[in-house]
Amino acid sequence: MGLMYRLFARPMLRFQDSEKAHSRTIFMLKVMSSNFLTRKLLSLLYLSRKKLPVNVFGLDFKHPFGLAAGMDKRAEALLGWESIGLSFTEIGGVTMFEQEGNSKPRMFRSDSKKALINRMGFNNPGSERIREKLSKHYLKRGKPKIPLWINLGKSKLTENKDAHVDYSTTMKRLWKFGDVFVINVSSPNTPNLRDLQNQDDLKRIIDSCMDVNKSEAKNVDNVMKPVLIKIAPDMVKEQLESIVKTALDSGCSGIIATNTTISRPTNLTSKEASIFSETGGMSGKPLQELSTDFISMVYGMTEGKIPIVGVGGIMNAEDAWEKIISGASLLQAYSGFVFEGPSLSKSIVNGLSKKLKENGLSTIQEAVGLKHRNGG
Ligand code: FNR
Repeated sequence: MGLMYRLFARPMLRFQDSEKAHSRTIFMLKVMSSNFLTRKLLSLLYLSRKKLPVNVFGLDFKHPFGLAAGMDKRAEALLGWESIGLSFTEIGGVTMFEQEGNSKPRMFRSDSKKALINRMGFNNPGSERIREKLSKHYLKRGKPKIPLWINLGKSKLTENKDAHVDYSTTMKRLWKFGDVFVINVSSPNTPNLRDLQNQDDLKRIIDSCMDVNKSEAKNVDNVMKPVLIKIAPDMVKEQLESIVKTALDSGCSGIIATNTTISRPTNLTSKEASIFSETGGMSGKPLQELSTDFISMVYGMTEGKIPIVGVGGIMNAEDAWEKIISGASLLQAYSGFVFEGPSLSKSIVNGLSKKLKENGLSTIQEAVGLKHRNGG
């Protein structure tokens, strides 16, 4: 089916507007996964039989590879992601208020470079409607079988000085549905959002979310949910150190490295240059090395003591392995699904299993940060 995707679906999607192709794909996955038989068919085609269990943040994952934020912003295909073999799903970014995002076109694709440029601007129905949707889904289908992560963004309308209210309101509305919450202050597409990565603002946002986390947990079993910070790959080492320190001092459980970059590759053809001149965040293959460097830096700064989620340009098992040995305990992808199709998860899990054997290791945990232990 990977071959079928390559031969038929991908060439067809190539001729479509990127955002329309994306919406159609999500719709197809939603339809296919809403029926027991077609869901079974998806699993038959795309589920890996290899077992690579990992326990991170006190949660069990059947393997380390999950869905990155932005792909399922409206929580539309929850059953689909587990059917095609992912070990966790991150929905969103969700903001306190409903918003349309930036004007279209706002997503661009370079097939030759396996890259996307997007300036979506947190288009989403807002946390109140996402709460209703998740509530209905949980009533009808029960809790998803794989951990659900929720990506928290900031509404464009909300000024930076009130950002903590925006993030924590969404967290409160969605707390009982999420297993992990991600504070995203690193999207390049909401004006001045990345300014919130400074120490004072970031601390205020995390503190406010932690207050919600504590008070909601009190109503249940007193167990707080893991809160992660997602970082941008466009900063100097000192800035990164400050963010990581603030996150850890404020009780965050981990770091996601990284969001999209505002940097661009060099040596482009004129056709590529016109795509890469679009404003927005770049993801995919040209982000791969940069995001891996950030994983390495965070691993070094924290001496490997805090879980890192690696994301950026994962297109195959080799890319996934590089991120794990650089320090990532879990992995995510968005662009990889666009360019490699729905069999990505299966090929990565199978490939990682092979990599473990080749290196004489038996668990993913043993491979995390291996590069640092082997002297770089
Ligand atoms: C994203 N990404 C993203 N990240 C986030 O934290 N919140 C979001 O709402 C979005 N939205 C979004 C939309 C689109 C169209 C893209 C392409 C990406 C970033 C994404 O989760 C991931 O960090 C980057 O895309 C890098 O990973 P890949 O795509 O190279 O695997």
